[in-house]
Amino acid sequence: MLRFRREVYLDNNATTKVSLVVRRKVSNILKNCYGNPSSLYKIARNSAEVLAESRQQVAQAINAHAHEILFTGSATEANNAILKSVSEHFYPRKTKIITTPIEHASVMSTLEFLKTRGIKVVYCPVDNKGFLNRAVLATLLDEDTFLLCCMLANNEIGTIQEITAISQLAKQHQILLMVDCVQALGKVPVDVQALGIDYASFSAHKIHGPKGIGALYIRQNCLFSPFIHGGHQEAGKRAGTESLHNIAGFATACTEIPQLLKKSQQIRDLTHYLVQEIKKIKPDCIINSPENHCLPNTVNITFPKVNNAIFMAMLDYYGISVSAGSACNTQDDAPSFVLKALGLSDTAARETLRFSLTANTSWRDLRYVVKIVSEYFSGHRTPINIITPAQLTENILFDKDTYILDVRDYYDRKLLKGLPHSHEAGFLSIRKYVNQLPQDKNILTVCQMGYNSAIVAYYLKSKHFKNVSFLLTGLVGWKLYHSDLYKKYAGKNIIPLIPE
Ligand SMILES: Cc1ncc(COP(=O)(O)O)c(C=O)c1O
Repeated sequence: MLRFRREVYLDNNATTKVSLVVRRKVSNILKNCYGNPSSLYKIARNSAEVLAESRQQVAQAINAHAHEILFTGSATEANNAILKSVSEHFYPRKTKIITTPIEHASVMSTLEFLKTRGIKVVYCPVDNKGFLNRAVLATLLDEDTFLLCCMLANNEIGTIQEITAISQLAKQHQILLMVDCVQALGKVPVDVQALGIDYASFSAHKIHGPKGIGALYIRQNCLFSPFIHGGHQEAGKRAGTESLHNIAGFATACTEIPQLLKKSQQIRDLTHYLVQEIKKIKPDCIINSPENHCLPNTVNITFPKVNNAIFMAMLDYYGISVSAGSACNTQDDAPSFVLKALGLSDTAARETLRFSLTANTSWRDLRYVVKIVSEYFSGHRTPINIITPAQLTENILFDKDTYILDVRDYYDRKLLKGLPHSHEAGFLSIRKYVNQLPQDKNILTVCQMGYNSAIVAYYLKSKHFKNVSFLLTGLVGWKLYHSDLYKKYAGKNIIPLIPE
């Protein structure tokens, strides 16, 4: 039995802890550099100098020229900007973009949007480790194609694509190449010139920088039309007063990249240790990440017959943060589209977790994780009960000793009606409801898919509620199983709780 609890953050592909030097830089800029970089007096000139220096530092980190860097509000914005700007330029002369089925949501959703504007999007297949099939790619590139879009490293499984070879193919056909480098930066060397990239996107918060700041690399002389109109900032390509503290924070994080890269072997060893230990504990687990050409910090593992919602909630209870996939899709009900593109079934995708380490991850952290995982699989009793959709009949729904706590958010409540007599509370502010929950009843937590409710169930257990259970697969699963009960009772006598 465990007597101590550690905080172990293993979700560094979602975001990273801001480094001390970056924090100091950001607060220093906020305090001392409040001038608008576009104004002319001394205070403003100081800010303009910081801006220029930051641009130079970001450029240096990727072997670009400062004038090829444009700051954006995020990598999502950078990806949107490239795809929309380049499409606008070529359409309708050329209409085709080629991409892969495992790009980040910010690329996938933008491409979906562009399809509605007449752009043809062709997905080049990837193998079961996420590597793009170059032979097929060569057959897809044609006169009508104007852009090839492919990420350098995948956020969910860590696969590193052979961008140099892909770039050569693109060049042979005079097709522009856009590469999402968000996950690669700080983990493997990124040299935009050597890789032959025309456009690239980057995000500060993945490299221990601040959130809400990204960068767009546009190779010299590559076309780009302004997409936010207003002032002349960012060489007229993105209007709006620059977020100087974030930009300087990003640049400072970039100056720390060489130190991060020096630690990559250590991170690889740690990841390897985690994988080997997990394989010993659960020999039937499947490693979805490739063994070679993979980010040193990332491993994606399927645990057959293990519901990742419960597993993740259990790990969270013990202070360990991991994720079931991309942070941008964790609120989504659908299984990861990346895992599905690798050939995993819906079930397997729901049995999968991603562990993403960082330079700060220690051996002690991982030994702790291994211990918790080992105890979990050796049948160390988990303190919460699971109610399957089949079990949730009138007996439980109308049991006077059961207190149903619905922790869905506003939007999910619009999609499905709640269980009868359920009490509505907010997932994110659950601690504000704790005092009004009855200690003497069996608390059954429910949400849309069974992820958030499992986390809340564990949370309540840590607050000493005796009997806590959660509804596996959530209301979605229950409605599918008991459509008759859903029709008859759902939405009746719902009681919204007021947070304290
Ligand atoms: C591969 C990839 N591209 C783009 C993004 C979007 O970055 P941002 O959070 O800066 O919008 C992410 C973030 O998860 C990512 O992993």
